[in-house]
Amino acid sequence: MYQLTFDTQAFIKKHWQQTPVVLTQAFEDFVDPIAADELAGLACEEEISSRIVVTEANQNQWNVIQGPFEDYDAYGETHWQLLVQAVNHWYPDSQPLVDAFRFLPDWRFDDLMVSFATPLGGVGPHIDNYDVFIIQGEGERRWKVGNKGDHKRRGGDENSPLVEDFEPIIGVVLKKGDVLYIPPGYPHCGETLSLAISYSIGFRAPSQQELLTQLADSLIDNNSGHQRFTSDSEALEPGIVSQEQQQGIMQLLAELATQPEKYQTMLGKLLSQNRFELDICEGEEPLDLEELQQVIEDGASILRIGGLKVLRLENDNISRLFINGEVFALENVTEAELVSFANTVNLDNELAATMFDNLAIAELLVELINQGLYYLAE
Ligand code: SIN
Ligand code: CO
Repeated sequence: MYQLTFDTQAFIKKHWQQTPVVLTQAFEDFVDPIAADELAGLACEEEISSRIVVTEANQNQWNVIQGPFEDYDAYGETHWQLLVQAVNHWYPDSQPLVDAFRFLPDWRFDDLMVSFATPLGGVGPHIDNYDVFIIQGEGERRWKVGNKGDHKRRGGDENSPLVEDFEPIIGVVLKKGDVLYIPPGYPHCGETLSLAISYSIGFRAPSQQELLTQLADSLIDNNSGHQRFTSDSEALEPGIVSQEQQQGIMQLLAELATQPEKYQTMLGKLLSQNRFELDICEGEEPLDLEELQQVIEDGASILRIGGLKVLRLENDNISRLFINGEVFALENVTEAELVSFANTVNLDNELAATMFDNLAIAELLVELINQGLYYLAE
């Protein structure tokens, strides 16, 4: 069990998406959920996103090598770091650490990245466009965090997250159980003091680009969004697009944003998708309702695969859930049942039996198990 020691609601008010903060001993008696050799094992896999960053000896250049990796002999004892994304998808024992951060909504959660760093290893000074909680496990790392501002990109490359050195507003050595929270836009840089494992819990919200792309796809799919601009007055000069008309045309987009029936489906689909591959758990034989009832009677629990997002939109007047970018409609379920299903990652046997009593939910469970998005456990 991982239990945060700080007041999470006070944290949201004071720091979340606002200012970086060191949360000393945010976990008491922290135990690493994964060992270095297990992480190396994950980094061997083709479908798991991993990279090694090598810090050049002059500490001024960081070379990135994309995984998978078979062995690490070539990298030596110092100056490199292995980073593995979406470990929560592939390593169920890491889920309890993620659960500790469910005081923030699931739609915002991106992934758990785990890093193994050798002394003097690091990824260099950089800026992320997401919120991150960096949890220190084994070993020690020194972190510097600078203020928001106009930071020059290294080598003038505007697409690189790497920035020039910055004046720190936070300088700290993180020890086991300490957490550093960094909102988007704050430059930061970690330097490894002794062999270290750290955990980055990342959160991100969709960009305007992502929203508009998804919105356009959804309008096309539903043959909707055909409204065009009209006006009862025109500019006197033929070559001019009046300010009023510019605003009137753009208002067509703003109107879509005020009509839930126009945006909710696309928003539910977008927010329930995962950026990283999921470890889909397909059984050999599809299950039917009677078989599921039997295994529950025999004591089975039903678990969600790591990273799967199950969301309910508040005030959605359609009885449905959004799961992994798809819509699942459910008849004859209450709002409370929908919300409870979305909130619950693991259905222990008792809860599974209670949920099974509702036919629509029982059928949903059968479908989700057959799709490999939920699985049975003893
Ligand atoms: C790291 O562990 O060095 C990378 C984490 C981060 O900077 O977000
Ligand atoms: Co970062």
